[in-house]
Amino acid sequence: MIVEHNVPLQPHNSFGIVARAQHLVRIADEADIAALLADAHWHAAPKFVLGGGSNIVLTGDVKPLVVKVEIKGRRLIEESPRAWIVEVGAGEVWHDTVRWMLDGGYPGLENMALIPGTVGGAPVQNIGAYGVELQDRFESLDAVDLDTGRQFTLDAAQCAFGYRDSVFKHSASGPNGFGLAGRALITRVRFRLPRPWKPVLGYLDLERKMAETGNQAPSAQQIFDWICAIRTAKLPDWRVLGNAGSFFKNPTVTPEQCADIIARDPKIVHYPMDDGSIKLAAGWLIDACGWKGKTMGNAGVYEKQALVLVNRGGKAHPATGGEVMTLAKAIQTSVYERFGIRLEPEPVVV
Ligand code: EPU
Repeated sequence: MIVEHNVPLQPHNSFGIVARAQHLVRIADEADIAALLADAHWHAAPKFVLGGGSNIVLTGDVKPLVVKVEIKGRRLIEESPRAWIVEVGAGEVWHDTVRWMLDGGYPGLENMALIPGTVGGAPVQNIGAYGVELQDRFESLDAVDLDTGRQFTLDAAQCAFGYRDSVFKHSASGPNGFGLAGRALITRVRFRLPRPWKPVLGYLDLERKMAETGNQAPSAQQIFDWICAIRTAKLPDWRVLGNAGSFFKNPTVTPEQCADIIARDPKIVHYPMDDGSIKLAAGWLIDACGWKGKTMGNAGVYEKQALVLVNRGGKAHPATGGEVMTLAKAIQTSVYERFGIRLEPEPVVV
């Protein structure tokens, strides 16, 4: 186990923000975690677990020990008439894993193609896109408690998945009194891919692709290709234009609140939820406030999707985390003033 010092984090966050880790350790397997925790100094030190860095805003140098998860490996561990169960190391790149599963004959993740980040970050966020969320394809995960060194396994119920939410985003001292934020390091994730495979085609963008191509019964590979094309057309590639995907969650309101907004803004994009609440498209709200394409300092609002904040300064003069957060706060204020809705950021602000 080698602890590196003063490590540049620009290559490790998809916004491309410049910051340094005072100390960083790379974890390739469970033995590396055991070695880290066997050291009394590092055992006691505050830690920040880093995966692909695709959902963080760095607002300064990181003082806690950065634990960079690089655990690899993918394997089919069970095959039954009802499902394939595939186990993947937390440090594997998400998109490569989606492709690997398709190539191996275990479809089911194709709607979530091209989401940036690593497999270990996926359950933290309960990532989702085009009608499928991680929780729909999840079996269980292994993790290590960084306080005690104990290894444990959680099933879906124990992960307490919600919309872009899980037990890993809440601290034990929070209002619910439970949570594993800052405490659990996810080492491996097991996916349950139901058999026979069924396509998920309910999203408007996919319906359009079916109409355009005349293909009403696409294969998993065809859906994968469509999703890649849809995302590439409307979301910036973080390698070219730094970003962290959607910057805010889509807010939910009561039907009464929604009716009130519709009376003033009949075009508002809204979706009824199973629990009776109404989800609003945050991108539409931000767009309606005139933010699309706007820039503050080196941080900007992407011109094709107002929900995505981007780093306009490139690698040479990148936006600072402070600039990104100043822009985010200005957007929150104008959406609140116009619609009375508080937008909640999706990325973790470090
Ligand atoms: N819209 C606008 N203006 C905009 C942006 C969006 O009017 O600038 C409208 C669109 O026309 C559309 C609606 O808002 O009617 C929703 O937009 P979109 O279909 O792009 O989806 P989204 O709600 O903005 C969510 C996820 C994405 C995911 C897509 C597809 C969240 C916060 N975001 O975006 O996830 O890819 O649905 O499933 O839930 C991510 O989390 O990083 C992410 C990219």
